[in-house]
Amino acid sequence: MRQNTVVGNWKMNLTLEEAKIFMLNFMSYDLPKRVQLGICVPFTHIYYLSENYNQVSLKIGAQNCSRHEKGAFTGEVSAQMLASAGAEMVIIGHSERRKYQSESEEELLQKIHRALEADLDIIYCLGETLEEREAGQLQSVLERQFLEGPGKLSKEAWESITLAYEPVWAIGTGKTATPEQAEEVHAMIRQLLAEKVASETAEKTTILYGGSCKPNNAEELFSQPNIDGGLIGGASLNAEDFLAIAKSF
Ligand code: PGA
Repeated sequence: MRQNTVVGNWKMNLTLEEAKIFMLNFMSYDLPKRVQLGICVPFTHIYYLSENYNQVSLKIGAQNCSRHEKGAFTGEVSAQMLASAGAEMVIIGHSERRKYQSESEEELLQKIHRALEADLDIIYCLGETLEEREAGQLQSVLERQFLEGPGKLSKEAWESITLAYEPVWAIGTGKTATPEQAEEVHAMIRQLLAEKVASETAEKTTILYGGSCKPNNAEELFSQPNIDGGLIGGASLNAEDFLAIAKSF
């Protein structure tokens, strides 16, 4: 069901010691009741954090998984391993991985299947670069990322999928999409879902905004009809900022 959701993406930040300090601080506050919270952490932190902090209102997740089930893939971590370490969700298709690891839609779709087999919830990211936006390619880029990726999935699979619209030009840059810009794209994505999957799926799917979402702009973003919450990078590293964003609905 569509749900107010705020998920942190720690990226490659915080040692395990620092993560423990963050959690002690974060959990000392009253967490908002009607918001689904999540934090996607480095692989090395999943077991400890999920053993100690996984609960109904806070899910611990990973930032990536292998496209393969298992085998001779040195350095890779499978979706089954993540689930066995206690992860409840995984980010797939983040623009940093699309860029630095050259992840293709085909590979991302394989990752989605592995995550579904392992019963992980999925946050699938999509979004355009500044060049693509300026060249008028916004719609075609989003359509490709959607249709060649999760657009191929059955209606049932969508029960486990949350989408995150993350304009690449807004990630870590301090340049947020305006609420109107973000809403326009979220509505476009919901329309794609209705046309390509089912109108019921479009109604039910949670779509998050990500890209320089901070305590001072979250409320306006989250008040848009098609924005169900945020995927938070930088601001999720500070317990007070992350909490303030989670309380912005
Ligand atoms: P940011 O990152 O909030 O630091 O812009 C968002 C993301 O990459 O998910």
